[in-house]
Parts: sequence; structure tokens; C-alpha cells
Amino acid sequence: MSLLIAVQHRDMTKFKDEILHIDKNIDVEIWPNVKHPDRVQFAVAWDHPKQIFQNYPNLKAVSSLGAGVDHLLSDNSIPETVHITRVVAPSLTDQMSDFVLTAVLNLFRNTERYVKQQQKGHWEKHKAYSKSELTIGIMGLGELGKAAAQRLIANGFNVKGWARTQKSIAGLATYSNNELTEFLNGANVLVCLLPLTSETDGILEIDLFKKLSQPAFLINAARGEHLVEEDLIYALDTGLINHAVLDVFPKEPLPESHAFWNRDKITITPHIASVTDPKEAATLIVENYKRLLSGMELLNAIDKKKGY
Ligand code: NAP
Ligand code: GLV
Repeated sequence: MSLLIAVQHRDMTKFKDEILHIDKNIDVEIWPNVKHPDRVQFAVAWDHPKQIFQNYPNLKAVSSLGAGVDHLLSDNSIPETVHITRVVAPSLTDQMSDFVLTAVLNLFRNTERYVKQQQKGHWEKHKAYSKSELTIGIMGLGELGKAAAQRLIANGFNVKGWARTQKSIAGLATYSNNELTEFLNGANVLVCLLPLTSETDGILEIDLFKKLSQPAFLINAARGEHLVEEDLIYALDTGLINHAVLDVFPKEPLPESHAFWNRDKITITPHIASVTDPKEAATLIVENYKRLLSGMELLNAIDKKKGY
């Protein structure tokens, strides 16, 4: 029995050490140098090359090394019977709440404009938005969206939220799947924290932007594929959206030649909104590995039918 770490472009020896620090008896293999493919029962994967899982005939579960599982569900070398789990961890949630709060504050207080003005030695004041003036709309009220909404509410912002199912969260006006138009009406700052599924792919598009209240802003910290990029360019050029903060892109790193880089109205961060803590993830992975071996229910298993 072994646990496989399948992550590209990163040295995973430290992560292996974190696992062995918790239990030195676990047999950990690091892709691509797998000595005994037939012994692999559990894998943890991030940015893995598609199709590698066909090499592990006794695989029973794969965990994402992050919160999202879209990279696993789009790999058809993972058999239908294999369980998919993900990382749900306090620090992941906390970092995302900080990221969203920071992005919102920067938009309200014109931080980006002042950084650019300083580079040119230019002194000019701009009106800051007051907290009562604008409403923040969070798309996705799961582990990350709910906590981000609560962080914003605790800081005095007006917040509304949208999820697939109806929610009851103190201080938050919530809307379910078929109430998207009502949710967008009155929302100024749209924050996307949805999982990437067939239903949410391309959801951030022009017709949706048109339904936002003015002035409108976008923060996408979920997946690049949620956004129709040419629609954002159009919305920024026509003033439908004032500014966008983007942490995620369909192709990462964002290519040097990409049109987003040189736009004043776009703030780019390199997929750092919330980064998995190796120690925290290792604890979860070991727990689920042991649960798998003893036939127990796995923690943070996703529903393959829903896609998250
Ligand atoms: P989660 O707990 O699974 O929550 C997903 C939320 O989205 C749920 O509230 C769900 O509604 C809602 N939802 C799903 N499909 C929907 C639809 N069709 N219409 C309306 N609402 C829908 O996910 P999470 O842990 O919060 O993570 C969200 C995503 O953040 C991840 O999938 C990942 O892509 C991204 N992420 C990004 C970073 C980063 O650094 N940028 C870091 C971590 C995660 P219900 O509650 O009704 O089911
Ligand atoms: C990061 O994007 C994650 O899904 O954890």
C-alpha cells in the first residue's frame, strides 16, 4: 500500500517529509519515479499530467492538494469508482477572506491609482467609496465564499451572496441558483468564489456584467475559466466595469503577451489568493489515507455529479 504525490513543476520532498513526520511508516512515492505502481492506493495531485492515473491499477482515492477539484474531474484516467477529496483547511479559508477583504479595500480606497500616480510623481486626490455606498456580491457560499462574506460583514460592508441552494447566514442576504438576476441587481463588487463546473464555466460574461449596479467591479479568485476574457475587455473599455482584480487564469503563468498585462483597469496577482499550507494539508492527507485503508468514510469528499 502506498501514497503517491503527483505534482508537476515543484519539489515535493518537503511535503513528503511532512507526511513522514506525521507517520514515518507510510510508504510515500513521488511521481514520476514510482517504484511500485501496483501498490498505489491513494494519490494527492496538483497540476498533474493528465492520464497518469491509468498507471495505478489499485488506486482508490485521489485528493486535490487544494480546494478545487476541476483538474481531477477533467482527467478521465481517474476511474468513476475512485473517490475524489480536497483540502478544506482553516488557513486556506482565512487567506481567501484576507485576499477578498484586501481587494475590496483597495478598490474602495483607490490604492491602485495611487500606486500608479506615485510611479509618475503625480499628486491627485480621488473620492473613496464609503462602505454604505456599494454592495459586494459573493458568488459561491461554500467554505471560502461564506467566510469571505462574514469577514466583509464584520468589517462593515454591505454583502449579498449567491449559491446553488438557499442559505441562511447571519447578516447576509442570500439568493439561490434561479435568483441570479435578483442577486446581481444592486451588487457593485462581484466576487467569484465558485467551483469550476459545466454550469459555472464562462459564467462571468457580458450579459451578467450588464446586470450589475454601477459603479461595478470584478474580483475573480476562483478559476480563470469562469471569465470570458473578451467580455471583460469590452466591459472595461465601455465603462460597464470600472476595475477587475484577477488572481486566476486559464493558462498559468499568464503568458507575457497576454492583453491583460498592460491594462490600467486590471490588477493581476499570480494565483496567490489562498495557498495550501503543506503541514495542514499533510495532516488531512494522512487522515484520509488511514481512513481509506480502514474502510472509513473519507473527509471532504466531493460529489462527482455536482462537480464540486
Ligand atoms: P465549496 O465549498 O465547494 O463551495 C462552492 C460554492 O459554490 C457552494 O456554495 C455552492 O453552492 C456554490 N455553487 C456551485 N455551483 C453553483 C452554481 N451552479 N450556481 C450557484 N452556486 C453554485 O468550494 P470552496 O472551498 O469555497 O472553493 C471555491 C473555489 O475557489 C474552488 O473550487 C477553487 O476553484 C477556488 N480557489 C481558488 C484559490 C486561489 O488561490 N485563487 C484558492 C482556493 C480555492 P451550494 O452551497 O448550494 O452547494
Ligand atoms: C487553489 O486554487 C485551490 O483550489 O486550492
